[in-house]
Amino acid sequence: MTAMESVARTTPQAVIKPFNVWRIREDFPILRQKVHGKPLVYLDNAATAQKPQVVIDTINRYYSTENSNIHRGVHFLSEQATAVYEDARAKVGHFINAPETREIIYVRSTTEGINLVAQSYGRTFIKEGDEIVISAMEHHSNIVPWQILCGQVGATLRVVPINHDGEFWVDEYEKLLSDRTKFVSVAHVSNALGTINPVREIIDMAHRRDIPVMVDGAQAAPHMKVDVQDLDCDFYAFSGHKLFGPTGIGILFGKAEFLEAMPPYQGGGDMISLVTFEKTHYNVLPYKFEAGTPNIAGGIGLGAAIDYLSGIGLEAVAVHEQELMDYATEAISGIKGLRIIGTAKEKASVLSFVLDGVHAHDIGTILDQEGIAIRAGHHCAMPVMQRFGVPATARASFTFYNTQEEVDSLVVAIHKVIELFG
Ligand code: ALA
Repeated sequence: MTAMESVARTTPQAVIKPFNVWRIREDFPILRQKVHGKPLVYLDNAATAQKPQVVIDTINRYYSTENSNIHRGVHFLSEQATAVYEDARAKVGHFINAPETREIIYVRSTTEGINLVAQSYGRTFIKEGDEIVISAMEHHSNIVPWQILCGQVGATLRVVPINHDGEFWVDEYEKLLSDRTKFVSVAHVSNALGTINPVREIIDMAHRRDIPVMVDGAQAAPHMKVDVQDLDCDFYAFSGHKLFGPTGIGILFGKAEFLEAMPPYQGGGDMISLVTFEKTHYNVLPYKFEAGTPNIAGGIGLGAAIDYLSGIGLEAVAVHEQELMDYATEAISGIKGLRIIGTAKEKASVLSFVLDGVHAHDIGTILDQEGIAIRAGHHCAMPVMQRFGVPATARASFTFYNTQEEVDSLVVAIHKVIELFG
């Protein structure tokens, strides 16, 4: 048994408490704030989620009592920091039901996870004339890395269209798959529309043709149970900061058979087993992909966030968010001049909308004066805006600490915007 496996076995199981949004809110110090004299209503969770006290305390404790470099020292602090960091990796593995802990690669973000796969897998296995399939609802971070790769190797990017509800067009996807298709990469949940994609079906269809599939899980992991074995995805990436953990840390899951066959993404310390000027032998997984001193506090903080979220229970989170979404969708649907962008049958807690005659940035600015934080803009998904013929949307995104009262405040504030703009 490796040290990593022995740590994994000590990972405690979370005890799930009954869901109580008001008790949960007390865990988030930032939510007690006022903004412009009004209670903060934080509805920008798809951009980044707030952090519970336990995550803040864990990072604080790490820097106060455990700070040391990992995998290198023989001293007490280094061994302790290594154990806690590797324990967090094992927690991530359990969280997404990865078969093996070595399939969990620490990266900076979802974006870095996708870039890693594009540059390492893509440059090795995708050649001139091959095709890579993505969808029309992707975030720029699941478009641009593949465009860069296509430019480097001479491959072509093919895009699955979406329908007027913002749903993935499965029939068109099937038509795009051919002998030339060598990779598929799709969002699990769209950040701009909230659409939940049928990723299992998308993966099955690709696998029937032996095409590997990557899933951008940035907007899914905080809201639903992700089981990489059940999905059978070949790669899955998500970010810590959207999952109530710190910024600057993310996760790439990859099936070991792929990761083993892939060359390193970056060279440096920790990713080697032997270096001479003639030749370098690379380290085993996951370290082969983790050059340099990593974001140790970030990994440890992410572990605390996963424990916290597991303690609430993703089933309870999904139920609460669905209730909020139904309530909010009904409440804003009746507002004259307002159009919801993204009306998929399967939707996560993202509500994008436009108002006749008012730019999304003006909506965002006026809502801010009411203490309400939403995101306004193209949400790093310009092709989605182009598809719907709008320059930008206003986007409210909910999580488990949001309340119906906050949705009511949003609706009142939207009416204020309409009054102001006549
Ligand atoms: N990708 C993040 C969002 O959708 C930042 O807001």
